[in-house]
Amino acid sequence: MHKLLLVEDDAALQFTILTALEEKGYAVDAVSTTGEAMERLSDNAYPIVISDIYIDEGTGLDVLKAAKRKDPQCSVILMTGRGTVETVMAATRGGVFEYIAKPFELDLMLDAIERAEAQWKDQEDEAEDEELPESQMIGSSPGMVEIYKTVCKAAPTDATVIIEGETGTGKELVARMIHNLSRRASQPFVPVDCGSIAPSLLESELFGAVRGAYTGADRDRVGVFEAANRGTVLLDEIGEIEFNFQLALLRFLQGHEIRPVGASRSKEVDVRVIAATNRDLQRMVDEEKFREDLWWRLNTVRIFIPPLRERRSDIPLLARFYINKYNARYTREVKLMDSGVKALQDYTWPGNVRQLQHMMERLVILADRVDSDAVFRAQTTMESKEKPVETLADAEEDQIRRVLAATGGNKSKAAQLLGIERKTLYRKLERMKL
Ligand SMILES: Nc1ncnc2c1ncn2[C@@H]1O[C@H](COP(=O)(O)OP(=O)(O)OP(=O)(O)O)[C@@H](O)[C@H]1O
Ligand SMILES: [Mg+2]
Repeated sequence: MHKLLLVEDDAALQFTILTALEEKGYAVDAVSTTGEAMERLSDNAYPIVISDIYIDEGTGLDVLKAAKRKDPQCSVILMTGRGTVETVMAATRGGVFEYIAKPFELDLMLDAIERAEAQWKDQEDEAEDEELPESQMIGSSPGMVEIYKTVCKAAPTDATVIIEGETGTGKELVARMIHNLSRRASQPFVPVDCGSIAPSLLESELFGAVRGAYTGADRDRVGVFEAANRGTVLLDEIGEIEFNFQLALLRFLQGHEIRPVGASRSKEVDVRVIAATNRDLQRMVDEEKFREDLWWRLNTVRIFIPPLRERRSDIPLLARFYINKYNARYTREVKLMDSGVKALQDYTWPGNVRQLQHMMERLVILADRVDSDAVFRAQTTMESKEKPVETLADAEEDQIRRVLAATGGNKSKAAQLLGIERKTLYRKLERMKL
């Protein structure tokens, strides 16, 4: 059997992978720098190369390039704990065989190698290299890397994409990324918030209207689909569209023709449609609130963005990204402490990335340093502002927390400010487990 090349600078991980591969009967050359990798590659042809991405001055993308130059049929498996859409894209363009986010189960790696072995003879040629721009999307959790992979596959096509996820998870950002990585990138990207447009106006908003079509239409009105011709339209909050209008939308998706309200004929437009929703459309279909045929038409490609609390490893990356951004914007030098990162990771983030972004902005403006205390204080003020309806008990607890924070934890002073007796406060605190 041919030898495999393993490039991994983390000695412990290199050892783990090496041992697992040798146990499976593979012969492996293991190196820990890109220099050594290049040397090996110039002397030997490897059918399979496994490489970390961030190694030293060189990266796994250089290894990928060198391996493919040596042998276009070589299967390269890249692994990284810091995946970005740009690295996934560059790796995809470079003809990577598999891209694995760390941490991973060894079986996943072994499975990729087995598939590479079965397939490597059929591998295709090498692609051109690309410069890596700064990333627009932060997050290297396995869930996000899966999204990057789907985005990279779907972007060059005109396929309709449905993006699902809670509020603030980055649905619009993903839609923009698909647009930016597509051949339509230089053309318009037009988001439409279907939920905020009155149902009676949605038709003319999307399809346009001719003068006199309805009262107040004193001139022709160009609809979104026409304005975005050759570009991309994001139909945001698609779950809010009225059942009857869903049919008009389905017809449009099938024929790519628009007929402005009041017009006698239709015209063709070339737009790609991406839809987003924070509702469970599948369930709406089951409950017959959303047309099943439209649902099937929309979900050619389906992307679900997990809530932030289910990918907590992205929180430090996002926090660092935003603290740098706002420090620069407000010429501040607020430091992010370990205890602050931990407190941020422990929080549940009902408003997801948007909420984290707002909190970091507020902290940069108000705090001297982001430690656990600062995070806790920011959370209490935020929750009290952002919870639209809360129970009386919740409101009371919030008020107690705020006053305690304001008095620096002094309970006698807090009780005095709250106008209750100290022992009442103690009882309440006990109930609140504080
Ligand atoms: N992975 C990410 N990296 C960097 N910024 C992000 C990321 N995800 C979201 N954001 C930022 O968070 C904010 C909210 O994102 P976005 O508007 O895309 O969310 P959304 O899912 O469309 O939310 P909603 O359902 O409320 O419309 C934006 O400022 C966006 O730039
Ligand atoms: Mg949105």
